[in-house]
Amino acid sequence: MTYQHPQKLPLPCFVADIGHFRSRFRRIREAFASHFPDVAVGYSYKTNYLPALLEEVERLDGWAEVVSYLEYRLARRVGVPGERIIFNGPNKTYDHLADALEAGSVVNLDSLEEVDHVRRWVRREGAPRSVGLRVNLPNPDFSDHRAHSRFGLPLSDLVEAERRLRDVDVEVAGLHAHLSSNARDLSVFEELTRALGRAFDRLERDDLDYLDVGGGMGYAPPEMEGLTFPDFTAYAEKIHEALGAWFDEPGARRLMIEPGISTVGDTMSFYTPVRAIKEIEGRRVAFVDGSIQDVKPTGHTRNLPTEVFTSELEPKSCSSRSYDIVGYTCMADDYIAIDQSLPRLEVGDVLRIDNVGAYTIVFTPPFIREAPPIVVLDDGEYREARRGESFDDFFAPYRFDVHD
Ligand SMILES: Cc1ncc(COP(=O)(O)O)c(C=O)c1O
Repeated sequence: MTYQHPQKLPLPCFVADIGHFRSRFRRIREAFASHFPDVAVGYSYKTNYLPALLEEVERLDGWAEVVSYLEYRLARRVGVPGERIIFNGPNKTYDHLADALEAGSVVNLDSLEEVDHVRRWVRREGAPRSVGLRVNLPNPDFSDHRAHSRFGLPLSDLVEAERRLRDVDVEVAGLHAHLSSNARDLSVFEELTRALGRAFDRLERDDLDYLDVGGGMGYAPPEMEGLTFPDFTAYAEKIHEALGAWFDEPGARRLMIEPGISTVGDTMSFYTPVRAIKEIEGRRVAFVDGSIQDVKPTGHTRNLPTEVFTSELEPKSCSSRSYDIVGYTCMADDYIAIDQSLPRLEVGDVLRIDNVGAYTIVFTPPFIREAPPIVVLDDGEYREARRGESFDDFFAPYRFDVHD
């Protein structure tokens, strides 16, 4: 289904700008290619697995970075060849690993249990293979039980993993590390490469085919005041420089990166009509056809950049007032924005809430209402990419005949 004019969009809905996504993906790849001629950009599926975006990654010859077997199957469904899938994440079972090894995917093992699954597979299939190991990292955001990430193998387990793999002629071909820190600054990548370097030293390997430094980069759109991150070239430079302390010619082997938020965060907007406006004890409260579950299910408290349109989707630019924008759910804290200055609102106006591309549609629980449609904007045309959920879709997994 296509919509020739934005006025025809089914509201509420998400709009994903494919052209924007495409140019961001290319920008990231180009920034890294100048330091790492063999860079593989593995889009982090979990950040937003709208198939229309994944197909675009595929058209751009990007890689798929997946963290579950569900995502692995999604990549195959989108048509990604096994060799261009990076299979990360904990709790990979024997069957998951067997599929991925069979298909020639890059498999980064997260535990000794996964190492043993690989050993079993190799013994059964007699096929020598190579795998990657994920390295455990400290997490600078925490000083409690999370001071060390729970992912990846600590140094002693890495050595044991390599011993067990060597025993069945499986080579450790790569090392992986990832950290999505709050700061997303260059020092995080210094620390991360140090952990990769230490792991490399302990393994006493001559070389590796690839190093995978994960995601964790930031990108702040100009409208997000007060948010700044290094640009992609600075990340690439820092990673190159930091790897140089441990590896000869860091640009000579393949570098894998797995960007999520920085690729897709500002690619999507949420369009919703204003349904009611109340004045409560001096606060103006505007109710919209969406909820905090749609636009910030991770629970962050930042007001997102928001444009106001008339019901005909003409931009509104009258004098501004302060509003709390609230959702339709029955949750007391369903505040989409607090004290946000917006042109004077009327019922029927449409809000476009930006920067809702990351951890939104993948994270929203089914709650009270059907999920809205998603439309992609590409080459000036709006096309349906996910239809609005129906009553029947919503309740499809439930049984209504339990007592029959
Ligand atoms: C293994 C892995 N790679 C990549 C990413 C994407 O990270 P970001 O969105 O910070 O770029 C994540 C997110 O948590 C992850 O767990």
